[in-house]
Amino acid sequence: MTKRPFIISGFAAFLILVPLAATSTAAAVQRLGYARWKKLQRFAYLAGALAVLHFWLRVKKDVREPAIYASVLAALLLARVYVAWRDARRRRILRDRPEPDSAASGR
Ligand code: HEM
Repeated sequence: MTKRPFIISGFAAFLILVPLAATSTAAAVQRLGYARWKKLQRFAYLAGALAVLHFWLRVKKDVREPAIYASVLAALLLARVYVAWRDARRRRILRDRPEPDSAASGR
């Protein structure tokens, strides 16, 4: 019984990765449309977290190795958060900038 979360997390990660792999062709991206494809591919983050959990649960005492994986994943996810925040900020700045014409004419 104590093994169940370990198997469930591994299997869930696997189940998530199947549709991601199946849509990893140019034809699949075209069929879905980029926006929907991108949304689907975001499940990779969940699969990553489940895989780390899966490995963590397998380890009995020395959690150093899964802890390394967890830290690498956390660093990568944080990098995604930073990039999303930066891009949103750039879009806001571009959106709110004054019209080039009205600033240039001065008359
Ligand atoms: C049906 C799905 C899965 C099942 C039944 C399963 C089962 C197992 C089992 C029984 C082990 C222990 C092996 C051992 O003690 O030597 C293991 C280890 C592991 N699994 Fe899975 N797994 C599944 C999916 C996944 C997926 C999708 C990932 C990663 C994306 C993953 C990553 C790992 C890792 C990193 C280990 C530890 C390897 C090591 O000790 O060096 N597993 N898994």
